[in-house]
Amino acid sequence: MALVYDFFVWGSAITTSNIAKVYARTVRALDGVDLAVAEGKIFALLGPNGAGKTTLMRILTTQIRPTAGEARVFGLDVVREGAKVRKIIGYVPQEMSVWTDLSGYENLLIYAKIYGIPPRDRPRLLDEVLTKLGLKEAARNLVRTYSGGMIRRLEIASALLIRPKVLFLDEPTIGLDPSARKAVWTELGKFKEGDGVTIFFNTHYMDEADLYAEEIGIINQGKLVIVGTAMELKRSVGGEVITLSLKSNAFAPERLRSLSFVQDVIVAEEEVRVVVQDAETSLPSLLEFLRQDGVSVTRVAMTKPTLDDVFLKYAGTRFEAGGRVSEVRQMRRMIRRG
Ligand SMILES: Nc1ncnc2c1ncn2[C@@H]1O[C@H](COP(=O)(O)OP(=O)(O)OP(=O)(O)O)[C@@H](O)[C@H]1O
Ligand SMILES: [Mg+2]
Repeated sequence: MALVYDFFVWGSAITTSNIAKVYARTVRALDGVDLAVAEGKIFALLGPNGAGKTTLMRILTTQIRPTAGEARVFGLDVVREGAKVRKIIGYVPQEMSVWTDLSGYENLLIYAKIYGIPPRDRPRLLDEVLTKLGLKEAARNLVRTYSGGMIRRLEIASALLIRPKVLFLDEPTIGLDPSARKAVWTELGKFKEGDGVTIFFNTHYMDEADLYAEEIGIINQGKLVIVGTAMELKRSVGGEVITLSLKSNAFAPERLRSLSFVQDVIVAEEEVRVVVQDAETSLPSLLEFLRQDGVSVTRVAMTKPTLDDVFLKYAGTRFEAGGRVSEVRQMRRMIRRG
């Protein structure tokens, strides 16, 4: 799980070297990101609101330039060879990118024209992407009658029209309920299997990264804090987690580190997470230690490490979602209503 990569990594679909982005001379949205995503993988960039996910995706999809550093997609420089990069990537933005007063088919037709797909190829291609994303039946209906999940699948279908080598998805299932989310990923999974496309997606949903990504990069305040498979990341936290809610504010949780069976102590605002090899056998000694220190425990939970624990360990703060993402969700609902 090294964070430093050689800039050119063989077999990589995406590489970045020390990418930084400063907006308006003051907002450091990205602060030296080094990344390599292997060809054919599903990669999730996971981070809270404002972490820099969309900024990185905009750089990789050639929409904005980095302030410093370099990025390549299949060896092509995103700044100097932007036009070539755009020919091999598909992109679904965080915001809505289809017209609701047209049918699904008409939307795709417009994108086919924008992409310069010859008229004779359009019917076959449109049919193909509509079938792949499970939208053939609804193709002639107005998009405003679609569910949120269907709209997202239509947006993905339009990004697939050029048969990209890399598909970039910014918050692919934002605002969707779990079953719609699952449907989106089922279709994406089929597409990945069939065409071997590399999928790079941004998300602030830990469970989405956990369930669907083969590799996860956690980003916080413009810095990539760790990269690995969900399993590797969780294993790096340790064996099991005992989460304690404590009554006494005077207690220094760091004292727990002196105990031989304690592997790590992660402190959240109102909780202490104690990492141990085996929670069931460690718990009695832990509680006894706290009792002798005069600390009363109000709640105990024993769990395997989650990505939440991973985030807390490496980013040093709780993972806070909300804010602008919910605004986007609101906006989507409104647009759908017309
Ligand atoms: N055009 C801009 N001008 C100035 N600041 C910006 C601009 N775009 C983004 N930022 C700031 O840069 C930081 C990173 O924003 P970015 O949109 O990349 O985060 P994000 O991880 O995609 O967040 P979200 O989960 O809310 O989509 C934030 O502090 C944001 O306010
Ligand atoms: Mg974003």
